[in-house]
Amino acid sequence: METKIGITEVNRQAVATELAKLLADENVLYIKTKNAHWNIEGDDFYGKHLFFETQFEQLNEIIDNVAERIRSIGHYARATMKSFLHMTHLSEASREKNDSQGYIKELLADHESIIIYLREKIKVFANDYNDAGTSDFITSLMETHEKMAWFLRSHLKK
Ligand SMILES: [Fe+2]
Repeated sequence: METKIGITEVNRQAVATELAKLLADENVLYIKTKNAHWNIEGDDFYGKHLFFETQFEQLNEIIDNVAERIRSIGHYARATMKSFLHMTHLSEASREKNDSQGYIKELLADHESIIIYLREKIKVFANDYNDAGTSDFITSLMETHEKMAWFLRSHLKK
């Protein structure tokens, strides 16, 4: 069935394309956070192991919401590792070390990169593509990432 929600097909496609990039970023960040959860070592192991678990659970929920937003505007949420790696703005984890500070710095940079991307798109979605719903959705998503970034950043104070 056609999606008749008062947004043109061209605009819905444009928003879906941007959300597909976001979905790719969220999936890469999810795996990177799991990598930190699994491989962290050091005298702060247990606390950070649990902290990363809390964060990947939040990312799991975010991923589901982004994919379902894509479906709500009439597009399919393509979910293959190949397409995620092709579309993501982020780099996969490549660190040899497994200390918490290193993991946290890398994850923080990724959250901040997603926050900047989302902030840029809030007005574009509402003004250029007439999609107030997705604009509102990513505004609240940006706030979630800002809070997650704050939690990461707060571990870095000397
Ligand atoms: Fe676990």
